[in-house]
Amino acid sequence: MEIKIIMTKIIIQKIVFGGKGLSKLEDGKTCFVPYVLPNEEVEIEINKDKKNFCEATPKKILKLNKYRIAPTCKYYTICGGCDFQHISYEYQLKLKKEALEETLNRIAKENIQVEKIIPSSGELFYRNKIQLKYNGEKLGFFKAESNEVVDIESCPITDEGINKAINFLKKFLKNKNFIKEIHIYKSSTEKALLKFITDEYFELNFEDFKENFPINLSAVAIYKKHKKLKTYGTPFVFEKVNQYTFRVSIDSFFQVNKYQIGNFINEVLEEIPEDKSLIVGDLFCGVGTLSIPIAKKVKKVFGIEISKSAVKDAKYNARINSIDNINFYEIIADKAGDFLFGFNPDILIFDPPRTGLSKKLIKKVLELKSLRKVIYVSCYPPTLARDITLLKEGGFKLEKLKMIDMFPQTHHIEAIAVLNKL
Ligand SMILES: C[S@@+](CC[C@H](N)C(=O)[O-])C[C@H]1O[C@@H](n2cnc3c(N)ncnc32)[C@H](O)[C@@H]1O
Repeated sequence: MEIKIIMTKIIIQKIVFGGKGLSKLEDGKTCFVPYVLPNEEVEIEINKDKKNFCEATPKKILKLNKYRIAPTCKYYTICGGCDFQHISYEYQLKLKKEALEETLNRIAKENIQVEKIIPSSGELFYRNKIQLKYNGEKLGFFKAESNEVVDIESCPITDEGINKAINFLKKFLKNKNFIKEIHIYKSSTEKALLKFITDEYFELNFEDFKENFPINLSAVAIYKKHKKLKTYGTPFVFEKVNQYTFRVSIDSFFQVNKYQIGNFINEVLEEIPEDKSLIVGDLFCGVGTLSIPIAKKVKKVFGIEISKSAVKDAKYNARINSIDNINFYEIIADKAGDFLFGFNPDILIFDPPRTGLSKKLIKKVLELKSLRKVIYVSCYPPTLARDITLLKEGGFKLEKLKMIDMFPQTHHIEAIAVLNKL
């Protein structure tokens, strides 16, 4: 099919959730453009023309916003990883705050303002984890909205140690087209875990690999799709955050911004009163990152988590942090409704993936007579807003909204919403 390319000039009105600039074309059609800023005059090429909107690529910025800066990364706009590198950090935070408030206003009819923004002390080199794609020739990230691999030598938002490993891996991958992805995670205690996602089993000379790997390697595991085929080494690392130690196994989740994990814990802790009569439930608890610090302030904590590996870590972490008023359960949150009644929780914490909470879970949560407060941590404002709407219908009021920047140089937002029962 022939694609008609149309060149035109537009003025960007605002940045919308998702990080793109919005403008109106002469015929009134809405146009979305990446890598721009409000009030910029831009020459664009329309590459997707739909009935109600179009998408375009910026070809030339004719009038620049004063917050535009030169991106750090040489792959910027080619690699699909970052989309805010052309924006000063201060202005990135402002745009995210506005996008979060606008999403809550549009979907949940909330006029709330973000009360506190917690910037990342490191705007670069903050990621402790990356997932590289390999196509038999190129090792890197996907292009934006594509499955084409962009070959990279390094990534400026990723930990410098992990960056050193990229070139080593490129040499190792020669003649190993069956490897499709490599996941690297480096802990604050300077130990790494590596995953190979492969189409076929292969033997690794682990001692030799470890000896030559540029960072201290704890384990390597080989997976075919989601099935773990083989593990070499010690399949966990330790994280030290504030006064806490967390064991994180190769299949468990841990927060990705190494500079923000301590702040993240503190911001949630601040919302929990010190009260030895309180019972707190932490749904989507991971390895106990939030539950363990919270247990020191209250009578009892219970954590719910889908991952067997994370639950095992959480139980272990309670022991090594000398916490005995806590229990962790391997349950799918969706099915945890009836289970919650056995605890009579006063406070519930939710930190779900982008999909948010199920209607079924929210319905059960709203039946809990004891529940006074909900602390909802979200990495995806549209589902946060959708779920807040349901919680409000059930008698809760959104009292406070905070934003902790976990993902500098990208449009991604992490929000902490506090709701109280009226
Ligand atoms: C965003 S992480 C938050 C973890 C934890 N709060 C932390 O800060 O480390 C989400 C967690 O939810 C878990 N999870 C995903 N889907 C789930 C589900 N349906 N039921 C229970 N847990 C789930 C994941 O395994 C992951 O550990």
